[in-house]
Amino acid sequence: MSCTIIVGGFFGDEGKGKVVAHIAYQDKPVIISRGGVGPNAGHTVQVGTREYGVRMVPSGFVYEDAKLCIGSGVLVDPRILKQEVEMLGVKGRIFVDKRCGIITQEHIDRDKGDEHLSKTIGSTGSGCGPANSDRVMRLSPQAKDVPELAEYMLDVPKAINDELKQGNRVLLEGTQGFGISLYYGTYPFVTSKDTSASQIAADNGVGPTNIDDVIVVFKAYPTRVGEGPFSTEMATEKSDSMGIQEFGTVTHRKRRVGGWDGEMAQYSAMINGCTQAAITGIDRIDKSCFGVTEYGKLTKKAKDFLKIAEDDIGSPITLISTGPEITQIIDLRDVKE
Ligand code: IMP
Ligand code: MG
Repeated sequence: MSCTIIVGGFFGDEGKGKVVAHIAYQDKPVIISRGGVGPNAGHTVQVGTREYGVRMVPSGFVYEDAKLCIGSGVLVDPRILKQEVEMLGVKGRIFVDKRCGIITQEHIDRDKGDEHLSKTIGSTGSGCGPANSDRVMRLSPQAKDVPELAEYMLDVPKAINDELKQGNRVLLEGTQGFGISLYYGTYPFVTSKDTSASQIAADNGVGPTNIDDVIVVFKAYPTRVGEGPFSTEMATEKSDSMGIQEFGTVTHRKRRVGGWDGEMAQYSAMINGCTQAAITGIDRIDKSCFGVTEYGKLTKKAKDFLKIAEDDIGSPITLISTGPEITQIIDLRDVKE
């Protein structure tokens, strides 16, 4: 049995999509299932020169032999799902848990029209906050009530647990990041749900005793979109001059950029129960590391940074991303067959 969870260690957009896609090709999971909030998440996956931005379909879709699932805890916007399924050609291998909460146009209007959510918090306007609120109020429709979703219906936790019982591999994808967890993040500047590994397990109906590995993804230079405290934030002039400019996958807003936050990394690793860490954007620590695929070829500057980060995290850094394309990664994991 082998169940791995992948979550974001900072404020989201750490590059989880790329890490998930790499692990999927390497480990060949039979199921890749998404936890997390909903279509407020945007994951970017670059294969060769093609770049995909996904909000509902798991980022592991690039690995064609896996069944793709959306766990019970996740909010589904049926229109976004339909668009992505068509665009990516994943019909026939994507499934939605029958209990998922549904986002309607009314939720989106409420999210965008609400001063507190849209201005103060800086929400993505995707309707997630109001939809989770209705779900808690027991007012929300579920996926099984939506005729257009009938062809995708599955008992996702049952499918996952059956595979685990047979000794097969399953990958659970988290979304967002630790710093915007409703429970552990910079409340009230957070998303509408917890984002930690325990939540991702719960979203997919996998009990804590069935999780083998938690990979927390950290970004060498963390970013944050939307409002809220960011202790290591840099002036835009500084990050621009370093060549770091990023824009949100969902909202296209410019991301705020900061330096490595060791204290946050340590706390995040603790709450997530981190067993291994992934670091993305090592090519920003030293440009000459761009695209490197062997640890030995990293520069001293990059290795020194990794040593500090590993001490903060308190678990081994086993995945080092050196560029956006999925093959630009150093994989030091010990993968059991
Ligand atoms: P909401 O989740 O759309 O309600 O937005 C609440 C806060 O979380 C805002 O600051 C968003 O920018 C942020 N947020 C939500 N989802 C993501 C994500 O996937 N990546 C980064 N920030 C996010
Ligand atoms: Mg993102």
